[in-house]
Amino acid sequence: MGVGAFKIIGNKKLEGILEVEGSKNASLPIFIATLIEKGTYILKNIPDLMDIRTLIKLLESLGLEIEKLDKNSYKIINNGITNIEASYELVKKMRASFLVMGPMLAHCGEAKVSLPGGCAIGARPVDLHLKGFENLGVEIKIEHGYVYGKVKDNELKGNKIVLDFPSVGATENIIMAAVKSKGTTIIENVAREPEIDDLCNFLNKMGAKIEGIGEGRLIIEGVEKLYPCEYEIIPDRIVAGTFIIAAIMFEGIKVKGVCVEHLESFLMKLKEMGVTYEIDKDGLFVVTSKLEDLKGVKVKTMPYPGFPTDLQSPIMTLMCLAKGSSEIKETIFENRFMHVPELNRMGAEITTEKNIAVIKGIKNFSSAQVMSSDLRAGAALVLAALKCEGESIVNRIYHIDRGYEDLDKKLRNIGADIERVKEEI
Ligand code: EPZ
Repeated sequence: MGVGAFKIIGNKKLEGILEVEGSKNASLPIFIATLIEKGTYILKNIPDLMDIRTLIKLLESLGLEIEKLDKNSYKIINNGITNIEASYELVKKMRASFLVMGPMLAHCGEAKVSLPGGCAIGARPVDLHLKGFENLGVEIKIEHGYVYGKVKDNELKGNKIVLDFPSVGATENIIMAAVKSKGTTIIENVAREPEIDDLCNFLNKMGAKIEGIGEGRLIIEGVEKLYPCEYEIIPDRIVAGTFIIAAIMFEGIKVKGVCVEHLESFLMKLKEMGVTYEIDKDGLFVVTSKLEDLKGVKVKTMPYPGFPTDLQSPIMTLMCLAKGSSEIKETIFENRFMHVPELNRMGAEITTEKNIAVIKGIKNFSSAQVMSSDLRAGAALVLAALKCEGESIVNRIYHIDRGYEDLDKKLRNIGADIERVKEEI
């Protein structure tokens, strides 16, 4: 990963359209789901990101042939999995790689996948994934940092599974293992993120029988065979939310490609702050309120449809510029306030106590050198640097490149003075 940084000269007049790309967190599981069944697939509206490139290397190491048709489309040819081991070198780069376990168990009855490391925002265990697999008749062994799974009597058996927590990854991994199991699988307390719906719609288009999509309880009737297909990924609701915050902070920005149904709790909170907006006839999101009129609010991150943890750091940047004070309670990850000291270096007045942050409104940020700790925190710091007078440096931008397609290019196109520089380390 290049150790790069963004050099930003802030307080420029930004004017123009920010276009939302395809969903990273729908693309990753859907790409991985092509492991389940042989054949040729076409996937469209895939964002051009570091994480996608990392995943492609992993899937090719397992035997898939992947061809990039254009910036956002791919052809995947699955002639069978030739290697059941997903190596530490590849899995450590992106923990979503652990999602290959379910499809490999469905395809060939066994899998050996490196335990994903934790990351800056938390320990990120996979116990719920493994408990789900065991419920489907998989023997699990963990040794030397790898999870080895083998299907008993060579047949995954449908079963009832109740998730202790609506984990996005566990839900996706279990669904992908269950679609070809014998009999019916019922999964209670599933995650209901739109990316799960997109994965289920993709699998159903392949001939899977998944009912209850989006309702918190899935009923999956196992089928003998699935059939490859062509599929277009949904827009990225987290990128959309990030761009909407930019549009609130800079009057001249409009956002194209917003799916408002995926952002209801986020938009409710913005309205509570005093934000008003219109969606014009071309589906263009246009903010009509003024930044200086906004007031502080309370936010609590929750599983979907609650307020998304991935928009916690971007909305924190906006809260810094609102009148009065705001509060954020982070309930999903145990350590997702690492952007707080970085924003405070830029003049923010935020205090944290365990998983609660209190944000006092300030007039504006002041330019500084700061460091990204995760992809969303990086975006929050870029927004702050764009707003204030002077030169800021946002370091560790490989985090941002993981989740935002051509962010600096898109911002330059609307008048931002932002360029990639080498990070002084
Ligand atoms: C997905 O991560 C997303 N990543 C994350 O987005 C997102 O923040 C998260 O869901 C929550 O919405 C992808 O989709 C690739 P979880 P995931 O399993 O699946 C605990 C981004 O910015 N847990 O719902 O890892 C876990 O520790 C990324 O794109 C267990 O305890 O999230 C965490 O505290 C960051 N045991 C909580 O659940 C398990 O077996 C939520 O995790 C699994 C999870």
